[in-house]
Amino acid sequence: MKSFTPSEISPRELHKIFLSGVAPRPIALVGTVDARGNANLSPFSFFNAFSSNPPVVAFGPSHRATDGTLKDTYTNLMTTGECTISSVTHSMVEQSNLSSCTYPPGVDEFAKAGFTKRKSVEVKPPSVMESPFVMECRLVQMIDLAPEVNGSGNMAICRVVRFHLSGSIFSGDVIDPHKIDLVGRMGLAWYCRASGDAVFELVQPRVNGLGIDALPDHIRKSPILTGNDLAKLAGVEKKPARNTEFTKFDNTMQAEDFSLELNSGNAFGALYALLTGVPPPPEKLQEKLHKVAQVFLAHGKIEEAWQTLLLPL
Ligand SMILES: Cc1cc2nc3c(=O)[nH]c(=O)nc-3n(C[C@H](O)[C@H](O)[C@H](O)COP(=O)(O)O)c2cc1C
Repeated sequence: MKSFTPSEISPRELHKIFLSGVAPRPIALVGTVDARGNANLSPFSFFNAFSSNPPVVAFGPSHRATDGTLKDTYTNLMTTGECTISSVTHSMVEQSNLSSCTYPPGVDEFAKAGFTKRKSVEVKPPSVMESPFVMECRLVQMIDLAPEVNGSGNMAICRVVRFHLSGSIFSGDVIDPHKIDLVGRMGLAWYCRASGDAVFELVQPRVNGLGIDALPDHIRKSPILTGNDLAKLAGVEKKPARNTEFTKFDNTMQAEDFSLELNSGNAFGALYALLTGVPPPPEKLQEKLHKVAQVFLAHGKIEEAWQTLLLPL
């Protein structure tokens, strides 16, 4: 286990480590204009939402690590108090990357990156037409996070004053992650794509769960069940009572070998094979029951997993 304070490693090394662990981060493609109205566009992955009522986001245009100077986005935002944020999707990621080049002030990165400007309604800076999720924003506060440090970060806190959402990202009335197809920035040059197999649903607890500390010892200390498995079991409000009907299999039930059933994801089949075959010694039986419970949990069958774990040995 590595353990260190930030001052024990170089800023460069720290940057790599820090951003690999605080990941994936959404990417804001920030549009600004200078005092003359010249457009500027740059990606920022020190970015997130911090309030939805009112909608407030923040992003971090740091001082340049090379010479400590301020980025054009920072200067423009401080001059005009306005910006647009266009979310970056997989189909835009290469062009967004191109817009991060350090062109001189006044150079239009919309043109350099080949993006189309969308005229804003509430603010002067344009946004990116190719993005399906756009926010027009006003600066609330700019915080210099460490004025004493060369190349330090700034935090631009902005209030969203208008949204533009493309109809193409909706399934019914909700934004579909597979359709919006966002990307995230990770450490070094890694990105990830937030659609397909990478996306899963996990509903936040609606009741106070039992808690892992309240699980019976043989479950909590299981060598089979993982932290995720235990959390699923501990998410129920009350420890379920044993249901003696649970193992009354109907007479059409058939099962092959325990391992075969288990490996094919058939938890009921595995349980049937286990309880109707030659009984293993108690410690082996417990291990096998935990494996069956794990398969139930993998299929979202929390009650069945509990009933399996409540079976007497
Ligand atoms: C995906 C991505 C994310 C980035 N995130 C940040 C960031 O959070 N903060 C930052 O200061 N620079 C970040 N950069 C680098 C800036 O985009 C880059 O310095 C850019 O040239 C600034 O342009 P400007 O001077 O026109 O504002 C990022 C670059 C990329 C490609």
